[in-house]
Amino acid sequence: MNDVSMLVDDEERIQEIVHRLQAFSNRRENLIPVLQMIQQTCSYLSPRAIECVAAHLRVSVSEIYGVATFYNQFRFHPPGRHQIKVCLGTACHVVGGDIILENFERKLGIRDGETTPDREFGLERVACVGCCALAPVAVVDDTTHGHMAPSKVEGILLGFQIKKDQAEREGRAGDES
Ligand code: FES
Repeated sequence: MNDVSMLVDDEERIQEIVHRLQAFSNRRENLIPVLQMIQQTCSYLSPRAIECVAAHLRVSVSEIYGVATFYNQFRFHPPGRHQIKVCLGTACHVVGGDIILENFERKLGIRDGETTPDREFGLERVACVGCCALAPVAVVDDTTHGHMAPSKVEGILLGFQIKKDQAEREGRAGDES
């Protein structure tokens, strides 16, 4: 998806949010249900969506951020095409889960909870994913990677890069034929 189509997509979603907000009265108690609705619609709480909520519920943007950041169910960045979840449950934490997270952060140039500017990768920490025997664990899209190590972080990202390069080459070859 290029930048222009992302913007069109975002604009359509904002229109949808404005429409769906009509189903909620402007009582403050609706704040959490409204934020949940937005997250369901857009996968995250964008600054523009939060402004729409502020106008609808007549509360300040900073108050909304204050409430939303209290709950870790809310995201403030769009998810990446590939979502990387690093387990920081106890079993993973004690064997270096935080080092794995740091490695992904460094390689991708983003922090936990963020998405790369091209929206290719999103990175987040999660609680136990249920396979502690494989600690430390990372889940990339739907694949669980156990016994993670910095070299595996590199390998996973390299794998995506190789596939992307290949797809671009094939796309170019298709254009030329
Ligand atoms: S703590 Fe990471 S899988 Fe259980």
